[in-house]
Amino acid sequence: MANAISVETRHVGKSFGSVKALDDIDLRIGSGEFVALMGASGSGKTTLMNILSCLDTASSGEVWLDGVNAATLDEEGRREFRARHIGLVFQQFHLIPYLNALENVMLAQHYHSVTDETSARAALDKVGLGHRLDHLPSQLSGGEQQRVCIARAIVNQPPIIFADEPTGNLDEENENRVLEIFEKLHAQGHTIVMVTHNPLLGNRAGRIIHLQYGRIVEGVSVVAATKEIPVRAIARQVPASNASTMAMIESVAP
Ligand SMILES: Nc1ncnc2c1ncn2[C@@H]1O[C@H](COP(=O)(O)OP(=O)(O)OP(=O)(O)O)[C@@H](O)[C@H]1O
Ligand SMILES: [Mg+2]
Repeated sequence: MANAISVETRHVGKSFGSVKALDDIDLRIGSGEFVALMGASGSGKTTLMNILSCLDTASSGEVWLDGVNAATLDEEGRREFRARHIGLVFQQFHLIPYLNALENVMLAQHYHSVTDETSARAALDKVGLGHRLDHLPSQLSGGEQQRVCIARAIVNQPPIIFADEPTGNLDEENENRVLEIFEKLHAQGHTIVMVTHNPLLGNRAGRIIHLQYGRIVEGVSVVAATKEIPVRAIARQVPASNASTMAMIESVAP
């Protein structure tokens, strides 16, 4: 694995028209940390993840990734940065339906300009799917599909893994399996940033960052931070944003 990287934001803001999704975000995530990002629906978690993972840019403030100011990267630079440093896992798995598990993982290598079946097999082995290599996504359970996504995210050995509600569509047993994989990756030195609504999962991370109305809040109990705020909940219905559409496309080209 490449050296772990640290992430820092200074007064980061993000607006979508008149909607201020993020406001004055100052945070530092150290190399090798396991951080859970929590907060009510609409509090800005996905927006922040998209900015930290170079899928989107901030409207104001600075984002520093491994000492690189993200503002100095153009679209191609951000793509390259992601390919070298970042693995992405999403709630909706975004697997290519007509490729089997092994090919889905190898596709991520292809975008990284390497294809090495041995390491793709090893990544699938690591998530307990060494026996499902030739299964299509439709022949895999939800938990197995999510584990293919994790294999795809780690096949290029990225130092940092961003996961946006990776267990949102999973039952308790699979939720636990996925968490155990993240815990293992963390123990191996990967930096993990995971969005979750589940306080039990959040508490398994080394640190919880709470967002509320686009701001980081200190000293909020997990229960209070995850409570649904009705107006914000309605905002969930907003059609897929450019960032999430991009995320979907880019998820096969981390
Ligand atoms: N492309 C967009 N255009 C307009 N508003 C947006 C866009 N993307 C996000 N927003 C708004 O920004 C705010 C934060 O959204 P975000 O998706 O980051 O929330 P979240 O915390 O991830 O919520 P959830 O838990 O429902 O996934 C919301 O009010 C949302 O409506
Ligand atoms: Mg979200």
